[in-house]
Amino acid sequence: MSQKTWGGRFQGGTDRRVEAFTESISFDRRLYRHDIRASQAHARMLAASGLLSGDEAERIIVALEDIKLEMERGEFAFSAELEDIHSHVEHALIERLGDVGRKLHTARSRNDQIVTDVKLWIDDAIMEVDRRLHELQSAFLSLAERHKEVILPGYTHLQRAQPVLAAHYFLAYVEKFERDRERLKDCRKRVKVLPLGAAALAGTSLPIDRDSVRRELGFEELARNSLDVSSDRDFVVEFVFALALAAVHLSGWAEEWILWATTEFHFLELPDAFCTGSSIMPHKKNPDVLELIRGKSARVIADLQQLLVLLKGLPLAYNRDLQEDKVPLFDAFDTVSSCLEIAAAIVRETRLDEKAIASRLEEGHLDATTLMEFLILQGIPMRSAHEAVGKVVRWCEEHGVRLVDVPASQWETIQEGLGEKVRGVLGVRQAIDSFRSIGSTAPSQVAQQLAFWRNRLASEKEKLETKE
Ligand code: ARG
Repeated sequence: MSQKTWGGRFQGGTDRRVEAFTESISFDRRLYRHDIRASQAHARMLAASGLLSGDEAERIIVALEDIKLEMERGEFAFSAELEDIHSHVEHALIERLGDVGRKLHTARSRNDQIVTDVKLWIDDAIMEVDRRLHELQSAFLSLAERHKEVILPGYTHLQRAQPVLAAHYFLAYVEKFERDRERLKDCRKRVKVLPLGAAALAGTSLPIDRDSVRRELGFEELARNSLDVSSDRDFVVEFVFALALAAVHLSGWAEEWILWATTEFHFLELPDAFCTGSSIMPHKKNPDVLELIRGKSARVIADLQQLLVLLKGLPLAYNRDLQEDKVPLFDAFDTVSSCLEIAAAIVRETRLDEKAIASRLEEGHLDATTLMEFLILQGIPMRSAHEAVGKVVRWCEEHGVRLVDVPASQWETIQEGLGEKVRGVLGVRQAIDSFRSIGSTAPSQVAQQLAFWRNRLASEKEKLETKE
């Protein structure tokens, strides 16, 4: 007799090549815990609804627990013939319980089952990614605290632009990763809508109680439309998009630090433990780990693209194409998780080369924009101030000097009395101290931001630890 859960309608067996081609057990076995948890909740509900006896439900729940342990221990025999994780669990249940096992799939289809499993899995995955993002943010925060007093050149177009406090720079990444966390939190709202009960596509004529399953599995709402349920993978796309954007953030950061570790920049020293050497050039210390973080973002972006293309053009409701969603989903999660873990370790152990940074800080006219703003405060129209400073900068370039070296007489040609006044604003330190807008690199603003993140991340750490 056919082992298949759908064998009844068929006379001949399935071609072996079709079994190998259609199986998903090689990757969806990863869902076994979630599949079993959902099945146990389903069994409890069936008993409460009179579709199973209390004793039958109990035996099913115990046997499912046993199957789970067997899978956990790696003793369970998987085979392509049984297609997917759902059929494996059900088949093992029937082997153990006979007819009682044959009742579990009442009022349920693999179509609503798989969406439920994936949602439960993503819910856990979101928690895991959130924890790792928090760790990375904390690592950036500790660098911000450590190098609180350091001033860095800030760049636009990779050209020296204006000075920024190192703490401001590190907190910029804390903000980016915070938005990644917010996106995950938002995605979770859609994940927390229960699919079970939609059955194959239209619901069921059996008297089920979806709300009790919802409560037991910790979902927040019931899906309103069964037809939508079995085709909906929006939440997978949203989750992978959040991961892809986090990967893009990681990639930009990695690129920056690769540059910063060069002899040309020499802003920081990467930890030896996170670099590799060259097999031929004995002096090399290469940032391969950062390069791979940058490189792996390509995979995650491709995963997102794969999902969107997979869904494009699917008619309602379930189509087998949907089985392919798990490959990019798992890949994106695994890739980003490992990148986040290693990124946090690198950030934690990297140190700015404060001396090297300071030695060239006065190069590149980082104080030019604050000087222009100072002229505006002296009543000079913005465009005129811009032009005047631009001309002085050109003069400095021609003479190979800095703005502080410009003779007083030259400032006097812009405005009377300026020669004396500009001395109070020129130079990088004074430029930093003149910032004042909310969210700027002004020392008082940055101190507030540091305090904000210190509190926020510490209180979250407590919460994250109690959840574990
Ligand atoms: N393994 C399938 C998936 O991952 C779920 C099973 C639904 N299969 C079916 N023939 N209706 O999407």
